[in-house]
Amino acid sequence: MAILGSVACADPELIASSDTDIREELVDPSFEEHIEPMFKSCLACHQGEAPDGGFDLTGDMYARLVEQRSIQAESLNLVEPGDSAYSYLWHKLNGSQSLAGGAGTRMPMGERWPQEDLDMVATWIDLGAEP
Ligand code: HEC
Repeated sequence: MAILGSVACADPELIASSDTDIREELVDPSFEEHIEPMFKSCLACHQGEAPDGGFDLTGDMYARLVEQRSIQAESLNLVEPGDSAYSYLWHKLNGSQSLAGGAGTRMPMGERWPQEDLDMVATWIDLGAEP
């Protein structure tokens, strides 16, 4: 890490190019490649006869999330294509579920997802939540 850091500092072009790579990857996240794998861990609680919060993520995960009404925030869909601010899923990950008219704690319980993962989800939603 220290070595990588000093190399990057010695060469500003290297920093610029690696930043660009990250941005390019965020430009158009794919559901199958980037989004679905992130939500596999949620199945630990969101499956079975009585999924936590009444929220079942099994089977077609895309269909479970996109344009599905939230149970907790009755006026919001879990994912509203094109608008992460109106997507309750986003608020649950961000920890702003109460401000969005919902309830409960941030998801997943415990540690907050890294900002780049939250950004990835927001970007995917804002670009239309394509399958
Ligand atoms: C340890 C168990 C557990 C894990 C893991 C978990 N959840 Fe939950 N989830 C719950 C419980 C319990 C509730 C209901 C209480 C609450 O919201 O705090 C809930 C509620 C929700 C709701 C509200 C559903 C609705 O329709 O309004 C969403 C959305 C949600 N979880 C998303 C996720 C996502 C996304 C992940 C993975 C990043 C995740 N959860 C991981 C236990 C869990």
